Amino acid sequence: MNTVPGMEAGLSPGAVEIPLEAYVSPEYARAERRLLWDRAWQVACREEEIPKVGDYCTYDIQENSVILVRSGPDEISAFNNTCRHRGRRLADGCGHTDRFVCKYHAWQYGLDGANSFIPNREDWGGALDDKTLGLGRVKTGRWGGFVFVNFDPDSEPFEAYVGAIPHWLDPFEMQAMRYKWRRWTRLACNWKVALDAFIETYHAAIIHPQNRKFGNGRSATREEGLHSCLSTVGRDGAGLGSSVDATQSRDHRQTALATVSMIRDTIGALTTDTFVRAAEALPDLLPATASAAEVSAKLMETAREMDSARGVVWPTIEPEHIKGAGFAWHVFPNTIIEPAVSYGLVMRFRPDGYDPDSCIFEAHALERFPEGEVPVAENVYEPELTVEKWRLLWVQDFENLPDVQRGMKCSGPQAVRPNPVLERAVVNFHRNLARYIGAGAPQPLRPPVAD
Ligand code: FES
Ligand SMILES: [Fe+2]
Repeated sequence: MNTVPGMEAGLSPGAVEIPLEAYVSPEYARAERRLLWDRAWQVACREEEIPKVGDYCTYDIQENSVILVRSGPDEISAFNNTCRHRGRRLADGCGHTDRFVCKYHAWQYGLDGANSFIPNREDWGGALDDKTLGLGRVKTGRWGGFVFVNFDPDSEPFEAYVGAIPHWLDPFEMQAMRYKWRRWTRLACNWKVALDAFIETYHAAIIHPQNRKFGNGRSATREEGLHSCLSTVGRDGAGLGSSVDATQSRDHRQTALATVSMIRDTIGALTTDTFVRAAEALPDLLPATASAAEVSAKLMETAREMDSARGVVWPTIEPEHIKGAGFAWHVFPNTIIEPAVSYGLVMRFRPDGYDPDSCIFEAHALERFPEGEVPVAENVYEPELTVEKWRLLWVQDFENLPDVQRGMKCSGPQAVRPNPVLERAVVNFHRNLARYIGAGAPQPLRPPVAD
């Protein structure tokens, strides 16, 4: 029996090789439009971006684009971002309106997508049929405050696509969280090169040496259909904000404070100021001899009380459920959601047009805020990939990724060989991706045959 942590859940995907086309081929990047993005459910925005009736935003993926509009108090509609007259793009960015007016010849559409006005309509002599003049509708799905779209009218139902995600993540009430900050940039690598780096912990100790002190870097991955759930191994599993490594320090109170401070300083997310204040209070609440489990429990309890005192009420989630929910979800195809009880981190990876060597990377920190204290978090384009602008952990990953892309383009026989345990989510991703594309499936690595 294999006793490696992480191998016990579900069927082992085993050791595989993944061909490089998905990362470097211009033809593959073009094929993604039709075979993946036009067919797969994908996160388009969060509901908080369009809170009032008439608020809208646009979501672009390669050359495709959709308008998401709050068309009723609890109704969000999505329309192809193209005028039914001569095809001009209708909307850009975010805004508020009571109708969409094309900037070319001023055809107009209501929030329900129906055509509401055509200048000089009589010139058509009655040939225009109202029924066919409205904006094309795009399917939407809503979960956890996220709005998903699917451009394929015949796609699988949203409920089948999200699968086990609501079961595991609904208790975190991510719809009650709000953006703390949002940042995006371009990276000189394929979107899958970037995504792969955030769904594996194999590189953590190498690229992020500051993490070595606090964790063993082991993770377990559970496949959930198209998606993957990553959880920590050998720690208390209560989320990074409360992680206390039982092996590293005698005074676990100090370890807890060092951990949450380090996460705040190097990531700017995945913990909160409340957690830092709670960790600072630990020496007054527990003796130096407190066990790691005691420190972890006290940290959570204190942070919960501190938040409650300022009007931020956490849901109660069973520790076993928190463990099962893990610390990160790869939501197929291009989003990562890291859930915790009072905060979250979301990353989205998109191709940069049809260029296989460039991608659009977005990081969104979420948090629970007291009523009336939600910050205004503009979506900031931050091309400067420095510690000052992004913080250390991000920069460590950003500096590595272009060299992955460059290395993959060298001549010679190449394929990638993910670690079957620590990079299991990478394998699951590419196995599912290959089902959409019809190529690039991971191939089993056969043990060498003895002479
Ligand atoms: S293209 Fe939109 S009104 Fe002409
Ligand atoms: Fe990393």
